[in-house]
Amino acid sequence: MTEWLQGRERVRITRGLVRGDAVRGGTGRSPLLDLASNDYLGLSTDPRLAAAAIAAIHRHGTGARASRVVTGTSAVHLELESELCALTGAESALSFSSGYAANLGLLGALGGPGTLIVLDEHIHASLIDAARLSRAEVASCAHSDLAQLRTLLSARTQPRAVVVLESVYSVLGDAAPLVEAARLCAQFDALLVVDEAHGIGVTGAGAGSVHAAGLAGRDGVVVTATLSKALGAQGGAVLGSALLRRHLVNTARTFIFDTGLAPAAAAAAAAACRIIGEEPDRVAAVSRNAALLAAGCGTEAAAGAVQSIKVGRPERALAIASRLQDQGLLVGCFRPPSVPDGVSRLRLTARADLSAEQMRHAAALVSAALADEPAVTSRGGAA
Ligand SMILES: Cc1ncc(COP(=O)(O)O)c(C=O)c1O
Repeated sequence: MTEWLQGRERVRITRGLVRGDAVRGGTGRSPLLDLASNDYLGLSTDPRLAAAAIAAIHRHGTGARASRVVTGTSAVHLELESELCALTGAESALSFSSGYAANLGLLGALGGPGTLIVLDEHIHASLIDAARLSRAEVASCAHSDLAQLRTLLSARTQPRAVVVLESVYSVLGDAAPLVEAARLCAQFDALLVVDEAHGIGVTGAGAGSVHAAGLAGRDGVVVTATLSKALGAQGGAVLGSALLRRHLVNTARTFIFDTGLAPAAAAAAAAACRIIGEEPDRVAAVSRNAALLAAGCGTEAAAGAVQSIKVGRPERALAIASRLQDQGLLVGCFRPPSVPDGVSRLRLTARADLSAEQMRHAAALVSAALADEPAVTSRGGAA
């Protein structure tokens, strides 16, 4: 096994695909200008979230102690679920210990023989794993290709079908055609699952893209969410009908066989939901900053907070990201297998708590690094 591990490591090094812990200095913000995190609203360091988390620890303990279906449900879980419904317009919500677990739990509970799961080819890894584990038949659809989606749904032989999209794609940053996809799903009696990891708190005035598309609470539309991005906490949730919630409580393996979400995380996320509802300027600031970033980088305006810039080879992406880091700017560097089409990308995220000046400065650094390809390429050899 050791030899095999060493061999795999050599392959990663040769291909420029090495990853490691990216350690943040201290508990607060990095001294670098951070456009790599998903803390879109800057809530992860908001004192109101911290106060809610501390109060929940004092009231409910540091851990949930057990599965939600044994003794692990506290009032704070129910409060979180009700806040999520108030924010997004969902009928019902169920929280999980992460967004990953929510996706695994949902598709596992909907899948199995007799279900076809159609995944957009750029869907997040958690949903790919979820579909594989569900033992359903799985089909991949070209990115946002409604014609192919129609073909796959009309040709299906399984009694049930589930179509899985992201409202704002995590790496590409573009928006799914939700209204058209929902129409197709209704026509072919398929359930539409929308992962709003990068939508809730950012799009639709914070309520998410499903709400903005007029699909919130609609029968046949289910949303999955993470509490760890715009909501500044940790955990995940499935938002849908009360019937679906009861089904998940009874069948979702990552709900039943997992300790409940930590009370502190639940309370922080519940506080974040309230803040999003009460502070529309904070949400608007993300879009404003995303637009500044796009304008400065000469890229298309993003659908949400994520600006994705094609770079090509992983070595070049790594070299540009490392040059930017030397200049005080942290950007995401997405390489295979995180990019299904094999095209490495820089991923820049706008945040509500950054100034217009910081966005312009970041965009100028990025543009210069991209234009400076020869220097970047030679650094790439060393990276
Ligand atoms: C689209 C999408 N879904 C799900 C997840 C997983 O969420 P979590 O980090 O809460 O497990 C992520 C996080 O990276 C994501 O980007």
